[in-house]
Amino acid sequence: MKLADKIVNKIEYGDFQTPTFFTRRVCAKIRDFYGLSPSIIFEPTFGIGNFFSGIISTFPKPYRLIGVESNFSYYNIVQDTFAKLLTHDIQYNLYNEDIFSFNFKAIKSTISTDESLLIIGNPPWVTNSRLSSLESANIPLKSNIKGFVGLDAITGKSNFDIAECIILRLLLEFSQYNCVLAMLCKASVAKNIIRDIDKFNFSLDSVDFFSFNASEIFGVSCDAGLFVARLGADGVKICVARDFDTNKKLRDFGWLGEAFYANIDIHHGKSAFDGKCQLEWRQGVKHDCAKIMEFSSSDGMFFLNALGEERRFTLGRYIFPLVKSSDIKSYKITKNAKIRAHHSKTRQGGDCGYKRRGSRYLGIFTEP
Ligand SMILES: C[S@@+](CC[C@H](N)C(=O)[O-])C[C@H]1O[C@@H](n2cnc3c(N)ncnc32)[C@H](O)[C@@H]1O
Repeated sequence: MKLADKIVNKIEYGDFQTPTFFTRRVCAKIRDFYGLSPSIIFEPTFGIGNFFSGIISTFPKPYRLIGVESNFSYYNIVQDTFAKLLTHDIQYNLYNEDIFSFNFKAIKSTISTDESLLIIGNPPWVTNSRLSSLESANIPLKSNIKGFVGLDAITGKSNFDIAECIILRLLLEFSQYNCVLAMLCKASVAKNIIRDIDKFNFSLDSVDFFSFNASEIFGVSCDAGLFVARLGADGVKICVARDFDTNKKLRDFGWLGEAFYANIDIHHGKSAFDGKCQLEWRQGVKHDCAKIMEFSSSDGMFFLNALGEERRFTLGRYIFPLVKSSDIKSYKITKNAKIRAHHSKTRQGGDCGYKRRGSRYLGIFTEP
């Protein structure tokens, strides 16, 4: 395989194996923080088996290991190692299959609902839109699993990590089992799962997210952690974010009443800001276009952008009032909240060709 193909393949399958020193630390955390001693341990994308190493050096035996991995070479490596090294107090079932089409009935029928089941691992960190751009086949069977409709189905909301799909699928499959799920993932995955929790048919007794430094462990810079969800009847909708090394609580995120908060502790005492807005808030001008597309005006006729380009516009044609979330930090929107934004479309999916047709009029948007 050529190097470029290898790199694409690695991205497509999220093939970044967790170092063994870290799988050991993750397993030790599950054992010590939750006092867990599982009798069945399931690794849904086991790779070269580094989580199995962590499990074997951490949890008291006997137990049964179950694993799924789509890469045939990895599956063979682990199968051979297990056949040579595992002692009789560890049973195992390994499957060389795609987790998206895996028939869970095959394993569920062998686990009783009161047995202590731990699902642990590190599913691929790649978004469905990245996979589409690579024309990858490694996508969930139903990519719109969250049932988004309308605008949400084609904007950022419907773009999510396939790790999120895998975690949701596992929580749904094992919703009636005595199960703890512990997965490494991006913070956005944990946030989305809690935000959308009411859409899904499972209930949680507790949720924690232990943040670690992803660049130290995986050499990638993103906000990541260990997501731990305990299935149960309590219906918890708040996740406690903690520091991985110290377990110290950093913040809570989740639902308070009707609203989802990224940081519940900050929200306390600020409930006066809550309420229903008559207008629906959408993402505004793309950050890196703001200097060009946002204008201020002192007379409502001549408009100046941050590059110092001045044009004359008619308000309501190409230029519309814009209030940014940063403008509403205080109780009142200040008198001179003066931002106006150029909009290339007047409706969702509309033509923005007038930008070309009106280039002489707009001028600034056509300069190289
Ligand atoms: C981030 S790596 C983690 C591997 C292992 N869990 C670990 O923590 O070291 C993700 C693994 O998922 C596997 N994988 C990717 N897509 C898969 C799929 N659809 N079904 C099963 N395994 C898959 C990859 O081959 C890769 O080994």
